[in-house]
Amino acid sequence: MDITFLLNGESVTLQHPEPTATLLDWLRDTRGLTGTKEGCNEGDCGACTVMVTDGDGARPFNACILFLPQLHGKAVRTVEGISGPDGSLHPVQRAMIDHHGSQCGFCTPGFVVSMATAHLNAETDYDDALAGNLCRCTGYAPIIRAAQSAAGHPAPDWMRDDLPFSGSEISSGGLGLAERGADSPPAPFHAPETADDLAELYARHAGATLVAGATDVGLWVTKQMRDPGEVIFLGRCADLQGIEETAAGLRIGAGVTMDRVLRAVQTRHPSYAQMLRRYGSVQVRAAATIGGNIANGSPIGDNPPPLIALGATLHLRFRDTRRELPLEEFFLDYGKQDRHPGEFVEAVTIPVQADRLRVYKLSKRFDQDISAVCGAFNIAVSDGVVQSARIAFGGMAGIPKRASAVEAALTGQPWNEDGVAATWDAWEDDFAPLSDMRASASYRLTTARNMLSRFLLEDLGAETDVRRVSP
Ligand SMILES: Cc1cc2nc3c(=O)[nH]c(=O)nc-3n(C[C@H](O)[C@H](O)[C@H](O)COP(=O)(O)OP(=O)(O)OC[C@H]3O[C@@H](n4cnc5c(N)ncnc54)[C@H](O)[C@@H]3O)c2cc1C
Ligand code: FES
Ligand code: FES
Repeated sequence: MDITFLLNGESVTLQHPEPTATLLDWLRDTRGLTGTKEGCNEGDCGACTVMVTDGDGARPFNACILFLPQLHGKAVRTVEGISGPDGSLHPVQRAMIDHHGSQCGFCTPGFVVSMATAHLNAETDYDDALAGNLCRCTGYAPIIRAAQSAAGHPAPDWMRDDLPFSGSEISSGGLGLAERGADSPPAPFHAPETADDLAELYARHAGATLVAGATDVGLWVTKQMRDPGEVIFLGRCADLQGIEETAAGLRIGAGVTMDRVLRAVQTRHPSYAQMLRRYGSVQVRAAATIGGNIANGSPIGDNPPPLIALGATLHLRFRDTRRELPLEEFFLDYGKQDRHPGEFVEAVTIPVQADRLRVYKLSKRFDQDISAVCGAFNIAVSDGVVQSARIAFGGMAGIPKRASAVEAALTGQPWNEDGVAATWDAWEDDFAPLSDMRASASYRLTTARNMLSRFLLEDLGAETDVRRVSP
């Protein structure tokens, strides 16, 4: 199957690319565009940042965990394409020179691309915009001064040229089955364009690996040297990417990326959005999907706890057979989910409700870190008494898990410190967490209990945030 995309303003068509060839390797090894650097090769450092423009606008992505077929129909701009065709500097490049922001040759190109993307989008929250670009030497102050200074200058014309393709010139593979000519590579890949086609294809190829944002699968390839075999890319299924109001609530398609989930829940459940603001980095949130974050069954995925606390319903599909289940029932055991061969996650629905949700994420770093513990509390109180409680945690068991004993102990209690203390023993009925490199078992149990106290204190008006947390 061929793929076509824009690279620094020029159309590129690749015939039968390897499904798991990364954009970073291709840029450096095949195109000689060595401005894009390899640092960690696992999505953490941002040295490989490129700007990708599609129907969701221009966003920074980590090229090291972006597979070439994911680029079909999009526009890529590398650091070489940030300066003008005549070599003139972009305002952020000029400002980096003027403010001595160029510190080392590994990180600077990634910083420049992230800054140029933020500049194009008139984004001025530089803590957020640069959270995915790690500097281990001098620090961020000169870089942020450069970003602030560049904000006063308009984006150059060439930065506005990357409009998404119309799609008309993109060849379709029908059901998405790869056309394999004599010179095609051995590993086939598929890229269906509708959920119906995906359902049919996956039922027939149940052993294939589904790839959505590749923020997990990318690391299987670059770090674990695993061959995912036959691959089905989900990124072209537009009908997996919808967010819609339904009678049952807010339905979010499996292919919706984290940055869009964050915006979708911002008004309804601001605490959920605040937590998602700490999900990876801008680059990771631009790629990772909610379907991937649920389907991977990770005990430390950040979406399941708030979704379970909100009473979300998971929508699964095999061919034309659809089934729904409360999200918590999807997670059976560590590494085991209630998903049959050939069945995929189609969407998740959050029921309509008054917002009583608080989500707390504990990690060693504020930004760009996986949770040690993520707790979500949906507690309704009336006349000073807890009427109902849905509480769910990541990082406290082998799966994302509801705190059923704590919920039962809390319901009917006064909403005060005595009521919270009444749950004390129940925590150990619900959880026997592990000690690992992120946290010890006793730290996890203590902090989980403390999160409930924190919710109470915040609800009573206490100021507990020590950092800016607005998304
Ligand atoms: C630098 C970095 C930072 C990160 N930070 C966080 C963080 O803060 N919080 C957090 O929770 N996670 C974090 N992650 C993990 C990762 O972002 C998530 O697990 C992500 O949501 C996976 O989604 P994806 O679309 O990228 O999935 P993919 O990598 O494409 O797929 C993941 C798994 O899900 C399967 N899958 C994908 N879509 C479907 C579907 N619709 N139906 C069935 N199966 C499907 C795939 O086959 C695969 O097994 C981070 C990852 C990186 C690299
Ligand atoms: S090389 Fe570190 S994020 Fe890609
Ligand atoms: S700019 Fe590269 S480590 Fe600081």
